[in-house]
Amino acid sequence: MAMDLDALKRAAALKAVEYVRDGMVVGLGTGSTAKHMVMALGEKVRSGMQLRGVPTSQETATLAREQGIPLIDADNAWVIDVAIDGADQVDPAFNLIKGGGGALLKEKIVAASAKQFIVLVDQTKRVPALGGSFPLPIEVIPFGWGSTARAIEGLTKSSVILRERNGSPFHTEAGHVILDVHLARIDNPRELEIALTLIPGVVETGLFVGRTDLLIVGTAKGVETYPATRT
Ligand code: A5P
Repeated sequence: MAMDLDALKRAAALKAVEYVRDGMVVGLGTGSTAKHMVMALGEKVRSGMQLRGVPTSQETATLAREQGIPLIDADNAWVIDVAIDGADQVDPAFNLIKGGGGALLKEKIVAASAKQFIVLVDQTKRVPALGGSFPLPIEVIPFGWGSTARAIEGLTKSSVILRERNGSPFHTEAGHVILDVHLARIDNPRELEIALTLIPGVVETGLFVGRTDLLIVGTAKGVETYPATRT
């Protein structure tokens, strides 16, 4: 029987919002899993919980407003109590690939400013090693993107594809473009992240290394939680 992945994502999201307490500032992730979390937080707000959100995309901001979640102005120096977000892949050390939806830059800024970073996935996102089935998104400055792509190809010995939407380059909310790198397998995500960010033109990578505090996995047998240590 086919798994209802959306139900697994929702179950993980419902577990995650149990970690949100009255008065908290919550980093709101982006994507189909995070969407369930925003909706569940909306229910909490409507039941009287006081919280404020920092959205990681316009899409999430719109949903949060619809749900009645008060948002903090992007220009504020926030103190985020907990950020909750999905991921495209999770390895055994809880390192992630994110950015399938193109929101990786804001997602990483929010995760980095949060006291706690909770990651939500369905069981299909867990992999023995990052890479392989999912390309690594890298956000780059549009100026000279072809040269940046060649430098990334040289470093990774992998093919690099400019992300498109409706036949045109996909632009992030910050006005950058995304290069999707088709790596066979990422043996050392930290080393790769550092090497990539040293290439001029690279703004941010979709590698989230050593940032997860808690992993919540929706599985066919129930929700599993795994505390992690930031490294
Ligand atoms: C958005 O840019 C991404 O990082 C998402 O968090 C990630 O792609 C997971 O999305 P889904 O929950 O839709 O799979």
